[in-house]
Amino acid sequence: MKQQLVFATNNPHKIEEIRRQLGNQYTFRSLADIGCTEDIPETASTLESNARLKAHHVKDGYGHDCFSEDTGLEVQSLGNAPGVDTAHYAGPQRNAEDNNAKLLSDLADRPNRLARFRTVICLLLDGEEQYFEGICEGRIATAPLGNDGFGYDPVFVPTEGDGRTFAQMSPDEKVRLSHRGRAISKLQTFLRSRSDADRPTG
Ligand code: IMP
Repeated sequence: MKQQLVFATNNPHKIEEIRRQLGNQYTFRSLADIGCTEDIPETASTLESNARLKAHHVKDGYGHDCFSEDTGLEVQSLGNAPGVDTAHYAGPQRNAEDNNAKLLSDLADRPNRLARFRTVICLLLDGEEQYFEGICEGRIATAPLGNDGFGYDPVFVPTEGDGRTFAQMSPDEKVRLSHRGRAISKLQTFLRSRSDADRPTG
C-alpha cells in the first residue's frame, strides 16, 4: 500500500506537480482533505520560517505529520525582491496577472533580468524537522508567454531550458527543471533512505 503524506497546501497546482513527481509512491492529502480550511498565516520573514510555520500549524492543530513548502522569486536587480513577499508583490489580492504586470513594469528600465525561484520544504516526521531546498536559476522574460502552469510561470525562463517560459512547457518538463521539482527530489531521497533504514536486515 502507498504511504500517505499530508502536504500542507490547498494550491491545486502544487498538488498536481507533486503527484506528477511522486504519485506512484505516495498518496498525498491536502489541507482540505484533513479538514483544515482556514488560511494559515504566512507572517514570517524567510521562506524557511514560513514553511516551518505552516507545517507546525498542521501538526499542532490536526495531529498529522506533514510537509509544507514556501516558494519565492528572487530577482537580482531588485535586491532579491520579491522573495518572501512573492505572493502579494502587487498587493493583498495575491493576483498572478497583477504580480506579473508589476514585475515587468519594475524591470522595464533594468537590463539585468536575472532571477531565481527558491523553494524550501519543511518536513515534520516522527518528531523530527527536516528542510529541503530547491533552486532554479533563470531570467524574467520581457512579456508573458504561454498558458500552462501558474503564478509567475509566464514570465520565468529557466537557464537550463531552451528559452521557453515555464508556462510554455509541459508539466513534466517544468518538474524536471523547477525549484519545486528539485526540492521534492531531495525529500524523496530522504524518505527513501528512511524507509530503507526501517526495513529489517538479514
Ligand atoms: P507560495 O509559496 O504559495 O506562498 O507562493 C508564493 C508566490 O509564488 C505565489 O504568487 C505563487 O503563485 C508563486 N509561485 C509559487 N510557485 C511557483 C511556480 O512554480 N511557478 C510560478 N509561480 C510560483
